[in-house]
Amino acid sequence: MPRALWEDLPVTSTFAEPRPSGALLLLGQGSDLASERGVECTGALPAASDPDLLERARVARAALGDRAFVLGHHYQRDEVIALADVTGDSFKLAREAAARPEAEFVIFCGVHFMAESADILTHDGQAVVLPDLQAGCSMADMADIAQVEEAWEVLADAGVAERTVPVTYMNSTAAIKAFTGRHGGTVCTSSNAQVALRWAFDKTGGRDGEGKVLFMPDQHLGRNTAVLELGLSLDDCVVYDPRKPDGGLSPQQLRDARMILWRGHCSVHGRFSLDNVTAIRERVPGVNVLVHPECKHEVVTAADHVGSTEHIIRVLDAAEPGSAWAIGTELNLVRRLAATHPELSVHYLDSTVCFCSTMNRIDLPHLVWAMEELVAGRVVNRIEVDPDDAHWARVALDQMLALPGLDPAPTTVD
Ligand code: 13P
Ligand code: SF4
Repeated sequence: MPRALWEDLPVTSTFAEPRPSGALLLLGQGSDLASERGVECTGALPAASDPDLLERARVARAALGDRAFVLGHHYQRDEVIALADVTGDSFKLAREAAARPEAEFVIFCGVHFMAESADILTHDGQAVVLPDLQAGCSMADMADIAQVEEAWEVLADAGVAERTVPVTYMNSTAAIKAFTGRHGGTVCTSSNAQVALRWAFDKTGGRDGEGKVLFMPDQHLGRNTAVLELGLSLDDCVVYDPRKPDGGLSPQQLRDARMILWRGHCSVHGRFSLDNVTAIRERVPGVNVLVHPECKHEVVTAADHVGSTEHIIRVLDAAEPGSAWAIGTELNLVRRLAATHPELSVHYLDSTVCFCSTMNRIDLPHLVWAMEELVAGRVVNRIEVDPDDAHWARVALDQMLALPGLDPAPTTVD
């Protein structure tokens, strides 16, 4: 087997670039603006090789001034992050979007479901713009509303729907968030999944009672949180596969389960393996392994720390100088952490590349194009959620923002 690049570097090296691999999601294949697969961007984009691109970006950003607010998810490219007014994980960005009622344009440098959430949390006079409509999420694409409605009927037939609270990860369509709101559930993100699950179980009669949670669409975040944070067992969890009749589960399995996990996963975090953890521990004695909770259960249990992107950043900010870290999350963020922490030895957990191909769709040409169009008075790539879905999705998002024990939110918009 060929040696990975990082394997040949001295332990004190700050970072080693993994080998590139193919795209993970077929992009721009659909025509539905509400689909995570997105539609092709038909704009007259500047060439990526344009030497004036950075200057054009600065000019357009300055021309928009306070009329625009640019949000950048931690997985975005460096050149995009450089233009963001605020960076954050999906939870922080949802709160920041909700707290900017004065911005006419909210330019969302992230993926489709995040921009949808921003549209729901902002008022009608604000336009949320996603610079490339092909920036979807393969995980969110693993659950559609028709499948979720069908799953709920399966739960009803098994006699458990009334005792089940739906909890949907932020990485889901607005229609699924709306379903969750209609059925008394909540949205969660990786930084508040524990609080959201506690709330949901309390609502259904406590973790030791009869209540259940239907967790969509990331089985790994649901399982990791239920088992590692709430003390449920792996036997309390079942996986509902939307491609199988009745989800592949018997009524008795549904009645016995506490956590009904949707069969979905992140194609980026799902690549990290136990072998990666074993290999890095052998190569870098004393390394601290820090992973995102979208990783598989076996990876999370073998790691030393687990947390959302915001948590990962905080842990490295507070790390002992000279300590070694192997990070299991998206590569743009890990590269940036390595660059901003020369006092640490930062390694990438996988030996091959793990960019999120859809996050990477947002690049300087798309951002410059979107901003220049706004300066010229044309709103492009606007994300607008259907009003009925927006109403009920807001109920579920507001429930998340009001979960007990979270930091007080910035001022929200009515
Ligand atoms: P965060 O909630 O940590 O921002 O993660 C979002 C995401 O898409 C991770 O893959
Ligand atoms: Fe979706 Fe995974 Fe990309 Fe996050 S990293 S946006 S979950 S595909």
